[in-house]
Amino acid sequence: MKSAAASPTQEQLQVDNTRFLSQPPQAVLKWALDEFGSAVTLACSFGAEDVVLVDMLSKLHSSPRIFCLDTGRLHSETYEVMDAIRDRYGVTIEAYFPQHDAVEKMVRAKGANLFYHSIENRKECCGVRKVEPLGRALAGMKAWITGLRSAQAVTRSATPMIEWDGAHGGIAKINPLINWSESDVWEYIKTNKVPYNKLHDQGFPSIGCAPCTRAIKPGEDVRAGRWWWESPEHKECGLHSHANAPTAK
Ligand code: ADX
Ligand code: SF4
Repeated sequence: MKSAAASPTQEQLQVDNTRFLSQPPQAVLKWALDEFGSAVTLACSFGAEDVVLVDMLSKLHSSPRIFCLDTGRLHSETYEVMDAIRDRYGVTIEAYFPQHDAVEKMVRAKGANLFYHSIENRKECCGVRKVEPLGRALAGMKAWITGLRSAQAVTRSATPMIEWDGAHGGIAKINPLINWSESDVWEYIKTNKVPYNKLHDQGFPSIGCAPCTRAIKPGEDVRAGRWWWESPEHKECGLHSHANAPTAK
């Protein structure tokens, strides 16, 4: 895999976004692999969108980079699909864990299930278990790929396919499935026989950590089961915040 050249500029990524908007996800993935080489990585939670992207990347490259933020609170079904994906595609999953001293301090002070008590506590837990490890996963990267779709949430409706991520040092953030519907995702999974998280068959369209995810009822919003005790505009954990103002270099 080639290593990446210069960091992408905000202006260039806007042009690339316009160029790829009407193209299939595989086209933007091929461009990302050619452009960024070993400095592009897939953020994989092993949800339906992410396993689609693993399948597409594996068909374009023999060893695509894939990382998972293992918060320590994932469902056992998530570990099962992680293993199924490793077996099927022969890929390495780069797991990132939270800093043990930060977890120990937080849990000693506020308890293991602090997130149910306030939004502040919930954001603290996501900060320790997801956001800090994400920073390490993206260190040295020029681009990352996510499974975001604009239809998933009000907080995601204006997300572009290719954006400049100022929150992680000015790298590209690539969301190849941004315009896909949930049925596009499932059609791809079925057609290509992609291993998927069994919780999807039990009423979980969106899967995060076990204590913060529940099954939804018919007619409920797809993210209704994530942090269900909070209102929709709060339902982001900080992985996809839009701190896109240019950083001083
Ligand atoms: S979250 O921010 O609310 O947790 P969501 O579960 O919808 O995100 O996933 C959106 C995208 O964020 C995924 O497609 C994936 O690219 C990335 N992502 C979410 N959770 C993880 C994780 N634990 N490890 C790696 N990437 C993740
Ligand atoms: Fe903590 Fe819940 Fe966030 Fe997971 S989703 S990091 S358990 S608050």
